[in-house]
Order: sequence, then C-alpha cells, then structure tokens
Amino acid sequence: MQLAGVSSNLMQTEPGINNKIDRQGDSVARIIAVANQKGGVGKTTTCVNLAASLAATKRRVLLIDLDPQGNATMGSGVDKYEVENTAYELLVEEKSFDEVVVRNTAGKYDLIAANGDVTAAEIKLMEFFAREIRLRNALAKVQDEYDFIFIDCPPSLNMLTVNAMSAADSVLVPMQCEYYALEGLTALMDTISKLAAMVNPKLGIEGILRTMYDPRNRLANDVSDQLKQHFGDKVYRTVIPRNIRLAEAPSFGAPAMYYDKSSAGAKAYLALAGEIIRRSEQNQQAKQA
Ligand SMILES: Nc1ncnc2c1ncn2[C@@H]1O[C@H](COP(=O)(O)OP(=O)(O)O)[C@@H](O)[C@H]1O
Ligand SMILES: [Mg+2]
Repeated sequence: MQLAGVSSNLMQTEPGINNKIDRQGDSVARIIAVANQKGGVGKTTTCVNLAASLAATKRRVLLIDLDPQGNATMGSGVDKYEVENTAYELLVEEKSFDEVVVRNTAGKYDLIAANGDVTAAEIKLMEFFAREIRLRNALAKVQDEYDFIFIDCPPSLNMLTVNAMSAADSVLVPMQCEYYALEGLTALMDTISKLAAMVNPKLGIEGILRTMYDPRNRLANDVSDQLKQHFGDKVYRTVIPRNIRLAEAPSFGAPAMYYDKSSAGAKAYLALAGEIIRRSEQNQQAKQA
C-alpha cells in the first residue's frame, strides 16, 4: 500500500550502498541527500552524527552543507564565520573541490562548508545554463574518493535542494512522529518524485528515519505504525530518541560521539550507521547472487 502521490518507481529503488562500480572496479560513493521541507526535524543532526558514525567505521565520508544557516558546518567544528571557501565557491565560482573542501573535521569526515554566502548561490545559480546539475558535475570528479557523501539540504525547495536531488542517488528523510507528519511526508514524496522525473529519474528513497522519538508518547507510536504500514522496510528499524546530548554537541563543535560517546543519541546514530552498512551488504549480495 502506498500514499497517494508517491511514485512507485521511487519506492522500488533499492537502498544499496556502494553498489555502483567504477571503470576500474573501484567502488564510488553513494550520494545521499538528507531532506525534509520542514525545519527542525533533525536533518542537520542526522547528517553530522551519521557522517561521524560511518567515518568511525573506517568509511570515507564527505558532508556537504547546503543550508546557508551553516549548522552542519558549526556542528562539524568548523567556524562558518572564519571558513574561507563554501559551497558557494564550489557551485558558483567553480573553484576546484580541493580548494574548497575542509579535510578531516572534528567528526573525522571531510566537509564542504556553508554560511550566509550560500544564500547568494541560490540566486546566482539561476543565471547558469544547466544550473540544476552543478553539484552533480562537481562531485563526479571526487566520487571515487569517498564511500558516502551526505548532503544537508535547506528546509525549502530552492535551486540548492534541486542541485542536491539531482546529484543524489537517494534521499534520506528524517521525520518526527507527530500528528501532521504523514501529510507532510506525502507532500515531500510527491515533490521528490516530480523532481526526480525532471532531473534525476534514478533517484530513490534511501530510508525514513524517526527522530526525537519518545516511545512513551502514544501518538508517536500510532504515527510510527502508520509509517511502517505505508513505507514498509524503507522505515529504518533504528529510531533516534530525544536526547539532550545531541542538542548540546554542536555548541561543543563536534558530533555527539566525541562529546559523550555513551549517550543514547550517539549510540542511536552508531546503530543507524550499522543498519545502513548491513542493508548495503545485503543488497550487494542479492545483486551478485
Ligand atoms: N534526537 C534529538 N534529541 C534532542 N534534540 C534534537 C534531536 N535531534 C535534533 N535535535 C535538536 O533539534 C533542533 C533541530 O534539529 P536540526 O538537526 O537542526 O533540524 P533541521 O536540520 O531539520 O532543521 C536542534 O536544536 C537540534 O539540536
Ligand atoms: Mg538543518
């Protein structure tokens, strides 16, 4: 059973990781856009902590901050007011990736930073030919240097989000299990499938992540059940609990696992990383069989 407006090809795309093979047989990064048009659902927290968790399992990870608020940048321990180059320089000024990337941040992953300058990118991009695929083109050159590339999307559907969707293999949707969540999700899925039809027909749903979850809340449980009914195994088994350490860690300038590794939040994101790796291995085995 599917929600109205959800394209079936989106639902069928396998959330495989690293299952694309390069010319030389080397694996290339799986590019995952973390998106939800709603603000405050845990997109940035998920990007930072999932990137750090995968890096801790020796995966090569790049995080791209596309939100002019620069929260993922700050949460990675990089000062958005001091950083020299951002996604703006990559997308608009066509500086090389090597010039723009910040290597080995506090979360042990690489970062393309964002700050207020990125707001200008949103507008400048409109002037370009093939403006939807500038990020895709920029990443094509470095995709074999990483196992995972995450893109932290702004909470709106602008040209930056379109660039993220056209560069990505799949979309990871963090959501809070609230009353209107399913409605919002239907709208988002609809948007994603329309966008995909235009700029990236291969775009799939990586997974749906329940964030800030409180198991004692009956409504949260109801919404969670409905989610599983509609989206089946696209819903990650791992849930991210509401945990103060996750909210505090950014002011410490590091992902939660480097701030309080025994916290429920840090553990939940490590578990999510494990789930994503397991899924990818299963998909690879299924492909080879
Ligand atoms: N699991 C969680 N438990 C407690 N606070 C959280 C959790 N996830 C996110 N937060 C806090 O909620 C706010 C919104 O999260 P954020 O990741 O910035 O959302 P988004 O990027 O979708 O706007 C932030 O202040 C963040 O620290
Ligand atoms: Mg954010």
